[in-house]
Amino acid sequence: MQETVSIVIFGASGDLTHRKLIPSLYDLYRKGRLPKEWRIIGMSRSEYTDDEFREYVEAGVKEFSPNTYDATKWQQFAKNVVYFQGDISKPGEIKALGKTISEWEGNRVGNRIYYLSVGPKLYEVVIENLGAADMVEEVRGWRRVVIEKPFGHDLASARELNKSIHQVLSESQIYRIDHYLGKETVQNLLVFRFANSLYEPVWNRNYIDHVQITVAETVDVGHRASFYDGVGVMRDMMQNHVMQLLSLVAAEPPASFDAEAIRNEKAKVFSAIRPIKSQDVAASTVRGQYRTYRDAKGIAPGSTTPTYAAVRFFIDNWRWQGVPFYMRSGKALAAKVTEITIFFKRPPHVMFPMPEGAKLEPNRLSLCIQPDEGIHFSFQAKVPDTAAEMRDVEMSFQYKETFGVLAIPEAYERLLLDVIKGDASLFTRSDAIELSWQLIDPILEEWASKGAPPLEFYESGTWGPSVADELIAHNGYHWVHSCGHDDKD
Ligand code: BG6
Repeated sequence: MQETVSIVIFGASGDLTHRKLIPSLYDLYRKGRLPKEWRIIGMSRSEYTDDEFREYVEAGVKEFSPNTYDATKWQQFAKNVVYFQGDISKPGEIKALGKTISEWEGNRVGNRIYYLSVGPKLYEVVIENLGAADMVEEVRGWRRVVIEKPFGHDLASARELNKSIHQVLSESQIYRIDHYLGKETVQNLLVFRFANSLYEPVWNRNYIDHVQITVAETVDVGHRASFYDGVGVMRDMMQNHVMQLLSLVAAEPPASFDAEAIRNEKAKVFSAIRPIKSQDVAASTVRGQYRTYRDAKGIAPGSTTPTYAAVRFFIDNWRWQGVPFYMRSGKALAAKVTEITIFFKRPPHVMFPMPEGAKLEPNRLSLCIQPDEGIHFSFQAKVPDTAAEMRDVEMSFQYKETFGVLAIPEAYERLLLDVIKGDASLFTRSDAIELSWQLIDPILEEWASKGAPPLEFYESGTWGPSVADELIAHNGYHWVHSCGHDDKD
């Protein structure tokens, strides 16, 4: 029997729809990757006719996907884009939406994706309404629900949310999105680690000194101030994106490329990370706020919401015992860069003459997630025409050079396609979400307490509070960025 796929976007008038979702779906269409019979239904309270909605999202494609916009292709694509005005918190209006979708599906098998691009407060009520309107039963076609982050604001609320949505949906129907997992360079982490034999034997405490993960942004909270205040960097970036990167660096090799095999290994990493005890929070974390944060409209006076965080975790297992994982993320920093740098141990003995007190630069492997996607390995080389002078040099792989400038698709493109295919490998399972909150909660609690470590203020356009340097300062190490270049550059 003929099958259809309806992609329903709740919160269709929002930023995400026209910046990311529609441009990604349009690119999938352009590449011929959407199923034969498909339709996008945008739903929100705003008043749009179908044509007005199409114009609104077309502007998004032109702006955010200018290299792939093509007027003729767009026209063909836009025929399948419709709008349904309604309030998702009202059961009757969700039911009416269901009726419209069923009419279009007719006798065909109607598969459906419900994408919750709405405020987290609405997650429960929408899912409840979908359940009440019999719109999630997989009688004639599958039903998948995509949930954006943040998933909860602490462990208790994440548990509560999981509990309540599990009353309506089975775990296999839920796709908790973390768009970092859709990034090509993040997926390449698995390929790099497990499709090559060179690094895996040294990917452990015997050879690795420490790991640094930096997710830095130059933007400040801007027009998102009212969302951001009270949320802060730990909930917005650390609990999800940064922890996901950590889990992929640290996971054991999964036995297969199967979604559960990968997700099991990631969950094991989270359960092996040593929770930071309240008395250790001050020594293991740094919280900061850029100096002009409180001036923005929508920020509570005297707000202590952190816009910068640095955290040191240890993983209590055989592979990683004693290896610190340093993670930092912040807004209004000096550069937009996401990178993971593995610092290998220095050679145990140096036979070359070196100035008093000097140390050899360790071998470093930098996995550049964005924006300058690539992988760099730095090692020592002899400077020509010297007796034995050494210098750090680099071997590099650059995505753009090797695969061309258009090689890297938008993260949402891959993730949306995976939802259509029913592949949940790149989505977060309920246990992993809860385990990750379990590690973040004690930090947030301590930061909110009377004995909290001070909130460090930093100037916009810098690398954040200088005390973060002390966190990492052991054995002559310091933070690096731009995939191998020092913060001090
Ligand atoms: C989002 C956060 O999840 O990720 C934003 O809510 C942040 O605050 C964004 O700016 C960063 O994403 P990317 O893909 O630009 O690194």
